[in-house]
Amino acid sequence: MTYDDLRKRIDEIIDPGYNKPFKEVNGIKKLVIGPNGVAELEIYLKDKQKHEQAIKIQIIKLVKIELGFPGIKIDFFESEFVPEGEKPVKYLAVASGKGGVGKSTVTANLAAALIRQGKKVGIIDADVYGASIPNILKVGIKPLSSTEDEKMIPLEKNGIEVISTEFFMPPEKPLMWRGPMLGKMLVHFFSGVKWQNDIDIILIDLPPGTGDVALDVKTYVPKSKILVVTTPHVNASHVAVKAGIGAQNIGHEVIGVVENMSYYLNPCNQKREFIFGSGGGDTVAKKLGVPVLGQIPIGQPQNGDFLFGGQEEAGKIYNQIATQVILEMGI
Ligand SMILES: Nc1ncnc2c1ncn2[C@@H]1O[C@H](COP(=O)(O)OP(=O)(O)OP(=O)(O)O)[C@@H](O)[C@H]1O
Ligand SMILES: [Mg+2]
Repeated sequence: MTYDDLRKRIDEIIDPGYNKPFKEVNGIKKLVIGPNGVAELEIYLKDKQKHEQAIKIQIIKLVKIELGFPGIKIDFFESEFVPEGEKPVKYLAVASGKGGVGKSTVTANLAAALIRQGKKVGIIDADVYGASIPNILKVGIKPLSSTEDEKMIPLEKNGIEVISTEFFMPPEKPLMWRGPMLGKMLVHFFSGVKWQNDIDIILIDLPPGTGDVALDVKTYVPKSKILVVTTPHVNASHVAVKAGIGAQNIGHEVIGVVENMSYYLNPCNQKREFIFGSGGGDTVAKKLGVPVLGQIPIGQPQNGDFLFGGQEEAGKIYNQIATQVILEMGI
């Protein structure tokens, strides 16, 4: 049995996620035969979680039983292949390191600003213990429906599609989940959601810190880019730098920094008052080698909502941030 025979047979195996043979969807990342005749494979699958087991068995049967190789070693990875005519979904994760600096607020307002510019937007609320996006957007929570192939259909508010653990919880009961369950839930958010057709961008609202969820993002959406949020205070910026450098170290591109709660615009004299200090955004941006995309003042939207309108001062700043995000993300 030669290498070419093996290659040909593996090439013909169908990735059920695409319903196309590996050859057509660049499904084989690595295929070598080691010195002892052991076949070593790395395979890309569209829906690794769903199909890994079945494909593994299929390949082992083929390689060991049918083709008679003495051993096999296979690893699976998520495929990033985009069939012709389809456009790739772009992901932007919002990170800060420190909690409470306004990641969720910025994520929701950025989504609204992107919608104002005609983009199709989704949000993954990846803060599974402290989900706040449904609240900020005032999403009316109802049971999720699913597609025939068991993908969850997100809920929608003002054109923004959202998926969140909030949707799976009884109201006002705290979440008592352990790490492994949480990890599983997140994986579903990354690959088990049926977003609207031709969606332009999915924002990921990360939990505070630089922990497991950031690594999950790396695993499941390796091409996700990162937006770093900080407040002007040195303590927040110090931690935001860590989060940003952490993301860069594992291979993510940081597109820029948003400085939130930058100043208070005193209505009496129209002067900016730097209640929380100043310089945090600039410091983070310099250390990460990226631009500051905007500085958001302290204040709440006028309409009693949590989202700024496009005509409000903060809303206009979000519009400018959205314009830069559109350029950076190529959407
Ligand atoms: N520019 C701002 N002006 C006034 N209040 C703000 C501003 N940005 C955010 N807030 C408020 O600060 C609090 C924290 O914001 P938010 O929940 O968005 O932060 P977070 O970084 O997502 O927090 P966590 O780390 O807990 O997820 C909220 O009550 C929010 O309304
Ligand atoms: Mg949050």
